[in-house]
Amino acid sequence: MAGSPLADQALAGEGLRKIHYSERIMPTLSALASRFASEKPFDGMTVAACLHVTAETAVLARVLRAGGARVALAASNPLSTQDDIAAALSSCEGVQVFAEAGADVGTYYSHIARAAEAGPDLVIDDGGDLVSTLHEASPDRMPIGGCESTATGVLRLRRMMAEGALRFPVIAASDTPAKRLVDDTHGTGQSVLDGLIRASGILLAGKTVVVAGFGTCGTGIAECARGLGARVVVTEVDPVRALDAALRGFRVLPLADAAPLGEVFITATGSADVITAEHMTLMRDGAILANAGHFDVEIDVRGLEDLAAVAEYHVRRHADAYELPDGRRLLLLAEGRVVNLVAAGGHPPEVMDLAFGIEALSLAWLARNAEKLLADVYPVPPDIDAEAARLMLTALGAGIDTLTEAQRAYLASWHTWR
Ligand code: NAI
Repeated sequence: MAGSPLADQALAGEGLRKIHYSERIMPTLSALASRFASEKPFDGMTVAACLHVTAETAVLARVLRAGGARVALAASNPLSTQDDIAAALSSCEGVQVFAEAGADVGTYYSHIARAAEAGPDLVIDDGGDLVSTLHEASPDRMPIGGCESTATGVLRLRRMMAEGALRFPVIAASDTPAKRLVDDTHGTGQSVLDGLIRASGILLAGKTVVVAGFGTCGTGIAECARGLGARVVVTEVDPVRALDAALRGFRVLPLADAAPLGEVFITATGSADVITAEHMTLMRDGAILANAGHFDVEIDVRGLEDLAAVAEYHVRRHADAYELPDGRRLLLLAEGRVVNLVAAGGHPPEVMDLAFGIEALSLAWLARNAEKLLADVYPVPPDIDAEAARLMLTALGAGIDTLTEAQRAYLASWHTWR
């Protein structure tokens, strides 16, 4: 099972260097590699994965190999595929890679079909295409279990469940407390500002930054902007989230009141038409608009196009300038699409370390327990979330206390404490 029919081996050296670099800053996966090398949770098993073919995924593949698995990897998005990583990984014994940067839709699905043909015992998916291919193309041979990495994929799995189509248990790894904290709050917080800065080139210190939505992502964005010296204003529709922002010292205002104050606006609500043309008419000359939400519906881009007397596209690589009839210019980043993915490099290795650590532990758990499970969508077992958090804490040089037996008894009891 060595090698890949696709990868250009001349790129393997460059890919290996990137994998080694990421490995050093992915301590959770390194710890799991050592543990799996002795426990061999996947001995004799094949794991098929449909993931972004990046250095971080390569580190995960090597962890699964250390645990005894053969690995067949297809790309979950040809735009994120790094050919040098594909080349480096496919030179590893026991790993097959079916991925090519920029592959067209037909090739993309043929690659997923090749991974499905490996006859996996376990799968890791990112978006649901591998799981649906397995159900459609090889219904006689189902894996014993799988993990899904994204909310979109989990939605597809739930639709399969509703139709009675899902035939093996899948753990929804996209939404655990540890992952939401590390990935959505800290990872997104940092990478959204990274995208904003790369796309606009501005200094954030001293600027007034308006963050619309103080949820899991907005909290991270607001805190990171404050950390860089910005004055942050939060807009919200939920009074409890707004209170949280106010008690953390952020100014909280309706967007119509924040519009004339902001120099930078970042939406992170998951909702539509958050920044409207009406808000734009109130903004200062030079105001910058960026979106961190999943869909490009949070900023009314069409309204901005209609409002503008002149549009100057690509004033920077991911920035378009719109001049209003009175001469004020607004700068729209990444066409209102998700700014950290369009203009920055996605999540840092440390974030993927936690996310993939949860998935590797979940797969090992499935290898032991899948027989007892029904075909259904399961949450990540809470022990696994806690274990991944512990591994990351250890890597950060942090330690925590353990409840004593007496404390456990106290917490479990309703009697008066004496
Ligand atoms: P969340 O539900 O935790 O937070 C959204 C917040 O926005 C809530 O507090 C809600 O009350 C508020 N909100 C809703 N409509 C609003 C409005 N019109 N004005 C002001 N506030 C409003 O959601 P989360 O997890 O923070 O995700 C937000 C968006 O970011 C989603 O679209 C999600 O898919 C996306 N996302 C983006 C990531 C990235 O890498 N850019 C990563 C993860 C999620």
